[in-house]
Amino acid sequence: MDKKIKVGIIGAGFIGSAHIEAVRRLEFVEVIALAQSDEKKAKHKAEQLGIPLAYGNYKDLLNNSEIDVVHNCTPNYLHYPINKEIIEAGKHILSEKPLALTCDQTAELVTLAKEKKIVNGINFNYRQFPMMKQLSEMVKQGELGQINLVHGSYLQDWLMYDTDYNWRLDSKMGGKSRAIADIGSHWCDTVQYITGKKIVEVFSDLWTVFPVRKKPITAQETFDGIAGEDDIPYEEVSVDTEDYASVLIRFEDGSKGVFTVSQVSAGRKNALSFELNGSLQSAYWKQEEPAKLWIGHRDRSNEVLMADPSLFLKEAQSSIHHPGGHQEGWPDSLKNMMLHFYTFIKEGKDPLTDKTEFATFEDGHRAMCITDAILKSNERERWVKV
Ligand SMILES: NC(=O)c1ccc[n+]([C@@H]2O[C@H](COP(=O)([O-])OP(=O)(O)OC[C@H]3O[C@@H](n4cnc5c(N)ncnc54)[C@H](O)[C@@H]3O)[C@@H](O)[C@H]2O)c1
Repeated sequence: MDKKIKVGIIGAGFIGSAHIEAVRRLEFVEVIALAQSDEKKAKHKAEQLGIPLAYGNYKDLLNNSEIDVVHNCTPNYLHYPINKEIIEAGKHILSEKPLALTCDQTAELVTLAKEKKIVNGINFNYRQFPMMKQLSEMVKQGELGQINLVHGSYLQDWLMYDTDYNWRLDSKMGGKSRAIADIGSHWCDTVQYITGKKIVEVFSDLWTVFPVRKKPITAQETFDGIAGEDDIPYEEVSVDTEDYASVLIRFEDGSKGVFTVSQVSAGRKNALSFELNGSLQSAYWKQEEPAKLWIGHRDRSNEVLMADPSLFLKEAQSSIHHPGGHQEGWPDSLKNMMLHFYTFIKEGKDPLTDKTEFATFEDGHRAMCITDAILKSNERERWVKV
């Protein structure tokens, strides 16, 4: 058997641990190291997960010449500096979103990755669901006709009390935008991937529902038992990023849409959903029931397509790994992300010329520019070009 591709993970919190699990589902890749912000934490996590090497400083992980690929799963403010160092170390890179905190930074990372000719990916994983591959093929093959309207939302409730706190609420760590950069970026990436059309103009309205929140004195990792616990000591802090946003969008071909994001919507856990209205039919998908695609007709009964390799178009079959009724979900979308990313590396494909089956730094840059335009539009109260 060929030598396995060796991987190091920087930041093993919520998403870093999910990356590790997904990578381990590929037989030709091996996670050999992780780095955390201090040595004790790193060793503890590495022991828990059975990973041989643990570093308290990510620079030591980058100096390990055995490591071929590095994942950056740290909080947002560390994406730009660490991504830059990973590229400079000549390693292939998979970054978490957002790619960096500003458009200038993301543009620079795109250029640097090209110069070094390294394989670069960003974890926009929603386009990796089997049904999303199927829908993108249906759109490509003209089944929906011309896509006129795209609308939907991405709603969560994990920050709906003023006692909910996470590093994302501090703009120094999370960036100038929160709900848009954190979840709106996923929505925009998914619909642009599905329609094959770029969002070129936006008109937004943002709102910080809680300008003051109660921050626990001790730091917490994401989704780490934060909601509603009022017996832990806290301090009041002001928050300058949005809990909610609604955005009108225009695509490059003049078609239009609208989406809403919120992190304060009770009962909505990870509710990314969207609808396409085409000139022949409509389609509606929601992430929390990912195996179903609603297909709307005007002149006959509507349908629900269930994820099933035998019902999928042949171009979508490589993204579905189980028979109908054996549902694939969020962790499987990460597996597909890793499968496509690492297969590209294994096959020695060229990141400058070969088509990828995953989002790249170019997509990360585009997402950042959309976020930037949304912030500007909110400030200026008018349409802004991306
Ligand atoms: N693609 C997705 O669906 C998805 C989902 C969740 C999070 N994310 C992204 O992943 C990133 C991390 O989010 P999270 O929810 O896992 O956060 P988290 O707080 O759970 O984990 C962050 C981890 O980074 C570590 N860390 C902090 N500073 C470090 C440093 N200097 N060196 C090494 N490690 C360091 C922390 O110890 C922690 O383990 C964010 O940028 C977020 O946008 C993406």
